[in-house]
Amino acid sequence: MSFDNITYQYDNGITTITIDRPKKLNALNRDTIQELHEAFKKAEDDFNTKVIIITGNGEKAFVAGADISEFAGYSVVQGEQLAAKGQAKLFDFVAHLSTPVIAVVNGFALGGGLELAMAAHFRIASDNAKMGLPEVSLGVIPGYGGTQRLPQLVGKGRAMEMIMTAGMIDANQALSYGLVNHMVEQHELLALCEKIAVKIMRNSSVAIGKAIKAINANYKDGKDGYKVEIRQFGKCFDTEDFTEGTTAFLEKRQAVFPGK
Ligand code: COA
Repeated sequence: MSFDNITYQYDNGITTITIDRPKKLNALNRDTIQELHEAFKKAEDDFNTKVIIITGNGEKAFVAGADISEFAGYSVVQGEQLAAKGQAKLFDFVAHLSTPVIAVVNGFALGGGLELAMAAHFRIASDNAKMGLPEVSLGVIPGYGGTQRLPQLVGKGRAMEMIMTAGMIDANQALSYGLVNHMVEQHELLALCEKIAVKIMRNSSVAIGKAIKAINANYKDGKDGYKVEIRQFGKCFDTEDFTEGTTAFLEKRQAVFPGK
């Protein structure tokens, strides 16, 4: 599988997917969204990948949004299809992966860029990062899940203000809003992310996948998250990871999870 707009790198349990259109500030055009879909699917299907990192190439941008040049002339039907396809292929797809996805926000994360970061399971940012949903300044609204995920992460009032003003917040403010979990200087970003990934990889990947499912259930209409949690909790008892985790504890040794 070869990619033109992204790079895909596997190392020691971590797959790093990097959006690689720095001259266009890594804006998400149709081809990039398709390639990202294929890359995330490949990583999810790869037994050895235990953590996925998504980031942008260059020192300036994570992703500066959906590629405005592609949708400027769209009709109502095309606009709706653009949002629906994008959400199915990338944003919802990423949010519901069972492999943890960390967004490493290394600069501008605007529009679809912030929506992609928000679809990841959590975010860390460099101190030069700037985040916002500027769509209303273009006469549209966020269409890749931004009106839903931003209020979930920062609260309704802050999301309303960010979306209505089309403004950007800096990394400090994103940290205080809880939009990102950690902020470091740009050169420390990947090292911090790998440190967190190593902590994640010590645990049962099977249990983590089930925890993601249960947490996500809280944000789905018509789903009772507590019931999903009960079901996923029960399912853990039939896994090799559970046998190993509990046996290791009782034998006072470090668990070595088979990931099954
Ligand atoms: N779609 C398409 N192209 C984009 C883009 C986007 N979302 N964001 C940046 N680019 C392109 C620019 O058109 C420019 O291309 P060019 O060199 O061929 O003219 C290149 O990336 C560099 O961007 P530029 O605007 O020159 O950089 P800047 O440092 O002056 O400004 C931003 C940076 C992020 C503030 C500015 O690019 C911007 O506002 N981008 C759009 C953000 C947005 O509205 N996103 C939501 C889309 S729904």
